[in-house]
Amino acid sequence: MRKKVTKAIFPVAGMGTRFLPATKSVPKEIMTLVDRPLVQYAIDEARAAGIKEFIFVTSRGKGALEDYFDHAPQLEQELRKKGKDALLETLKSTNMESGAIAYIRQHKALGLGHAVWCARRLIADEPFAVMLPDDVIAAEKPCLQQMVEAYQETGGCMVAAMEVPPERTSAYGILDVEEDMGSVVKVKSMVEKPKPEEAPSNLAVIGRYILTPSVLSNLNKIKSGAGGEIQLTDAIAQEIGKPKRGVYGLRFRGQRFDCGSKSGFLQATVSFGLAREDLRDDLSRYLHEVVAMDKASQ
Ligand code: G1P
Repeated sequence: MRKKVTKAIFPVAGMGTRFLPATKSVPKEIMTLVDRPLVQYAIDEARAAGIKEFIFVTSRGKGALEDYFDHAPQLEQELRKKGKDALLETLKSTNMESGAIAYIRQHKALGLGHAVWCARRLIADEPFAVMLPDDVIAAEKPCLQQMVEAYQETGGCMVAAMEVPPERTSAYGILDVEEDMGSVVKVKSMVEKPKPEEAPSNLAVIGRYILTPSVLSNLNKIKSGAGGEIQLTDAIAQEIGKPKRGVYGLRFRGQRFDCGSKSGFLQATVSFGLAREDLRDDLSRYLHEVVAMDKASQ
């Protein structure tokens, strides 16, 4: 039996400049997808996968994110008094156990690898997950849970993987596959943000990882890579070929939205809106109208 994965690191130190001016005062992770902050989707996914400890790597200006995880007893009391049970349940479902969340500051924006390394003292000698809340994944079985199950078989490091259009490789970590077992692939090498002509494939890393603590030791020594940043991809790549470990990719089942981009965020909003019973009819009617008007104007 492998050690259980009970800790997850959430790197949330980025400035979110693509969403300026909104991110002048609102951390990107608090921006609302339908009626829940982006980060809540990652938390729910982590909980479903058995995560018990949540480590946020933050930076200056992320106070609202920490406040979001406070309990709201007054608000709960108000809702209880008014008999607003459904809202009360929604609110309570976001409550986190005291002591389950830790915040670490990343003092300099030196890259994703550096952000993960900042949490090293809270990990000790056990496998851990990394979740990038910008990548929102709609799936029947939550993506991290799929990975935890696959990891029970493979051990080593596991990254979520998805085929992307070949011209988009320079936005992702890209896998070179040694053995393709269908949904799980064994990785031969991985490279951060290669140009399309240099990419070994179009199988990209998506922001979910299960990593061995040795990745943290690799990060101790690693030099800056693509974009002059300390890259997590490079530290994971050093695990390739290690006996009884190795690196695996999981082609997860589900739809991924890149909520780090405006268009991805809008698509996620529409898709999650349509998935909601209370919103579906109105939203769908409106979308049909918009499409019809658009066609008529062409
Ligand atoms: C990060 C990782 C990259 C991965 C991507 C997934 O890049 O460095 O390997 O493919 O997340 O979203 P970022 O999007 O932070 O530049």
